Amino acid sequence: MKVVSTIRDLQEQLKKAGLSPVGLVPTMGALHQGHLSLVKNALSSCPLVVVSIYVNPTQFNDKNDLKNYPRTIGDDMKMLGEVLREQDIVFTPDDKEMYPEPDTRVFHFGNLDRVMEALHRPGHFNGVAQVVSKLFDMVRPDIAYFGQKDFQQLAVIRSLVKQMGYRIKIVGNPIIREEDGLAMSSRNRLLEPRIRKNAGIIYKAISGAAPMISNLDIPEIEESVINTIESYDGFRVEYFNIVDDTELRHIKSKSEIRKGKKYFGCIAVKAGNIRLIDNIEIPL
Ligand code: PAJ
Repeated sequence: MKVVSTIRDLQEQLKKAGLSPVGLVPTMGALHQGHLSLVKNALSSCPLVVVSIYVNPTQFNDKNDLKNYPRTIGDDMKMLGEVLREQDIVFTPDDKEMYPEPDTRVFHFGNLDRVMEALHRPGHFNGVAQVVSKLFDMVRPDIAYFGQKDFQQLAVIRSLVKQMGYRIKIVGNPIIREEDGLAMSSRNRLLEPRIRKNAGIIYKAISGAAPMISNLDIPEIEESVINTIESYDGFRVEYFNIVDDTELRHIKSKSEIRKGKKYFGCIAVKAGNIRLIDNIEIPL
């Protein structure tokens, strides 16, 4: 694999390889099997794959979260070295390369800006859109790979592609989980052991939502999931919303269910002082 840190070297390597389709996997590093599943998917369809590793400051609305975000570049390179081919590229820019000037662009995503993560992390998706659009412009990929774990992010990226007229196919990859069901995340390594021990309850509880549908209406199901998780010491649920998969509209009753739409239960949990998100499809 080739490792480059400047846009100039990146574009030189892309040109030299002269292969297509080009697949892009944007990441913030601290790589785990979830990231690797995106990389493997890209490798299976693209003769040239670019993996970017960049902890993007503009998407952090909490300074401490940015400061504490795990950075494990040595391990990341080792993991990528085991799967990437000679021509594939790892792009590791620094802040000056990505933001030579402050990025003043403001994006709008309609309802996606008004629910769940957008409410709890103001400015977060604007930062994601800034960095991802920059990466799209720098790499000019044919296909870009994102995880369904970041459900709302995936919807935002699809909207970004439409708004900007990018001719990039967006692929959403299934969530990779730990043995106890906890969705893999770079932040999992920050969990205190007493919290990590019980963190499988998040997936267990959201998995319990679908079977309740015959007896309970939406708000009761949501309340029951929240109560199950909050019965564990140190766990506080920020939201658990059952939403449709395109507009992410929060449905308030079973009467709002429409044929042909898919529904997902999306959750954010403060586990100790670490914020985790997860989601699951709820067949309605
Ligand atoms: P990061 O959290 O590093 O995630 C990079 C990609 O890996 C995202 O598309 C995310 O959804 C996916 N991913 C993370 N955990 C996963 C899991 N358990 N299963 C499947 N996919 C998983 O998301 C970001 O970085 C940033 O916001 C980024 C898009 C890179 C922009 O800075």
